[in-house]
Amino acid sequence: MIKIVTDIRGMQEQCDTLRKKGKTLVLIPTMGYLHDGHLSLIREGRKRGDFLVVSIFVNPTQFGPREDFKAYPRDLKRDVELIKPEKVDAVFYPDAQEIYGHGFQTSVRLSKLPKYLCGRSRPIHFTGVATIVAKLFNIVRPHVALFGQKDFQQLLVIRQMVKDLNFDIEIVGVPTVREPEGLAMSSRNAYLTAEQRPAAQSLFQSLEEAKKQVLSGETDAAKIIQSASERIRAYMEAVIDYIIVCDPETLEPMEHITKPALMALAVKIGNTRLIDNMMLLPESGADPNPGR
Ligand code: PAF
Repeated sequence: MIKIVTDIRGMQEQCDTLRKKGKTLVLIPTMGYLHDGHLSLIREGRKRGDFLVVSIFVNPTQFGPREDFKAYPRDLKRDVELIKPEKVDAVFYPDAQEIYGHGFQTSVRLSKLPKYLCGRSRPIHFTGVATIVAKLFNIVRPHVALFGQKDFQQLLVIRQMVKDLNFDIEIVGVPTVREPEGLAMSSRNAYLTAEQRPAAQSLFQSLEEAKKQVLSGETDAAKIIQSASERIRAYMEAVIDYIIVCDPETLEPMEHITKPALMALAVKIGNTRLIDNMMLLPESGADPNPGR
């Protein structure tokens, strides 16, 4: 039976006791409605420590006023069933009152990384993410925490926060898990209708095409973005938020792909906002950090 802990004090005490016994603690923060992408984080996390905590908390402070906080899929029973075979030691499942209910007034805000990509149309998002992740780090005090590379900007934000605030935690980025047709796994895929799926798959297809273009010598980011955008716009229900080719460390836009670059995009398919990304590696440049 997986232990479900709903209170901060209980989670802290249990983790403190284990840490004092010399156990290595691993945390996988999630918002639930788990899928194969989360299972891959859990399996990777299992290899890295003795006590594995999965947190499930749909964090209200990272959703804007017109975003899908209320609609975000939630199903604890289903999540627990799914992770039963994975040897998770505890699920931390607090409610919003437990997390923010005591006169909360502090937040963690990064000054540069959130200016790009998703931060442009979701201005409060990364402050919400950094704040809840900092809280989870202080509650569990893990030695290792794992995050998916699908949320590449989030991964960079967390790495930067860990560095800036001196959290003694190893951050591990885990490669994106995809459906057979290439669509990146996401809890939000549950919103997609069968008719919308071809449009959703065009995100991956356009990234794959960009990768091939760069491998065959194209270095002009504008041309690559143009062809990705044409492929996606061919679907009536697709509305592009951004497509960008950028520096994989600073997220600053790149015009010429003469070194490894990140191509990232966000597209709304109907009401569902999807994101994806891929490294573009010019023939001459190997990915300096493939395990990012
Ligand atoms: O990636 C997510 O699911 C969330 O942004 C996170 C990291 C759990 C913070 O709420």
